[in-house]
Amino acid sequence: MNKLNPLKFGIIGCSRIARKSVIPAILKSEFAELEIIGSRTIEKSEKFSSEFNCRKNGTYDDVIFDDSINAVYISTPIGTHAELAMKAASAGKHVYCEKSSTDSFTSAKEMVECSKNNNVRIMEGFMFRFHPQHQKVQELINNKKIGNIDSFNGSFGFPSFPEGDIRYNKELGGGFLNDSGCYPICASRMIFDEEPLSVFYHKYNHPKMDVDVKGTSILIYKNNKTANITYANGNYYQAKYDVWGSDGIISLDRAYSVPSDFITKINLQYNIENSWNGRKNKIIEIPATDHFLKMIDTFCMEIAGKIKSPFNFEEELLNQAKVMEAHRRSSDTGKLIHLEELN
Ligand SMILES: NC(=O)c1ccc[n+]([C@@H]2O[C@H](COP(=O)([O-])OP(=O)(O)OC[C@H]3O[C@@H](n4cnc5c(N)ncnc54)[C@H](OP(=O)(O)O)[C@@H]3O)[C@@H](O)[C@H]2O)c1
Repeated sequence: MNKLNPLKFGIIGCSRIARKSVIPAILKSEFAELEIIGSRTIEKSEKFSSEFNCRKNGTYDDVIFDDSINAVYISTPIGTHAELAMKAASAGKHVYCEKSSTDSFTSAKEMVECSKNNNVRIMEGFMFRFHPQHQKVQELINNKKIGNIDSFNGSFGFPSFPEGDIRYNKELGGGFLNDSGCYPICASRMIFDEEPLSVFYHKYNHPKMDVDVKGTSILIYKNNKTANITYANGNYYQAKYDVWGSDGIISLDRAYSVPSDFITKINLQYNIENSWNGRKNKIIEIPATDHFLKMIDTFCMEIAGKIKSPFNFEEELLNQAKVMEAHRRSSDTGKLIHLEELN
């Protein structure tokens, strides 16, 4: 494919998600180009580069200081994102940083400030937001198909990772609030299209490793709307949410991590008359979509000034990081945390 003025990407970290989803999407995008791949070990960067026919490889610094790239993709452990993102931004590179962007609200603010000071953009990689199924949900809500929306219920969890995985390492920003709880939290903010006022969060730590593996939280939004969030590592796979309204309920079974060839289904339940027999179910199929590709296209086109992204990258990153911080504070103190307490 001949690409016209693509954003040239350097990859920081030869991760599983880079290999499986993000590098293939960069290669597919007509607005992005793969330029260089960096790793802590030269052998790994060489292997990845040959796998993807990438001309250049090297260390993380070789990527960050490569004059021919415009953007970096960071998919290293969460606890390492902030330093790498700020180094790249200071070198004048736009940053696409994997979720969770970082493990503290303070470092999130530093990341955004550093990007602004260097006139580059920074985006947290919540690709699920770019899947058209959520736009359809939003359309059903806006058209009052389920009346006034009142609560959101979201859960995301899966079987355990092998021992030694980055997610079980506290120093690397591990734990499953950062890894998977962050998705339904982000989805509730997207569905209500506002920020929660307060958060109460309970977590359960792994008996041996000092990281959270399960947790549940209540987010209270304006007018007593609530979001109930559950995440669990070591459980049967779940990636769902329901939006419950006065006249119906919308359910998504595959809300967060969706393979690009997977046809998703939205289940809409509503009443056509006010009785149990008057309940109707409608299944709405959404065509298979590569949400990584959609996100990369949006990132590149927004930077090129060709479109306006539906999500303001920096504001979104900060708002999400603030809600995540409220979770940490709530579990540290055992109290309900009001978002206005955090600044
Ligand atoms: N958006 C999504 O769907 C999605 C899905 C999965 C994961 N993620 C996110 O992507 C990131 C990576 O997750 P992953 O599961 O793909 O991880 P992974 O396979 O374990 O890869 C992480 C990479 O980070 C680099 N790294 C740097 N410092 C490291 C250290 N001290 N220990 C281990 N690795 C280190 C390594 O690359 P080098 O050896 O090449 O330096 C390693 O390959 C995380 O932020 C995660 O939350 C996103």
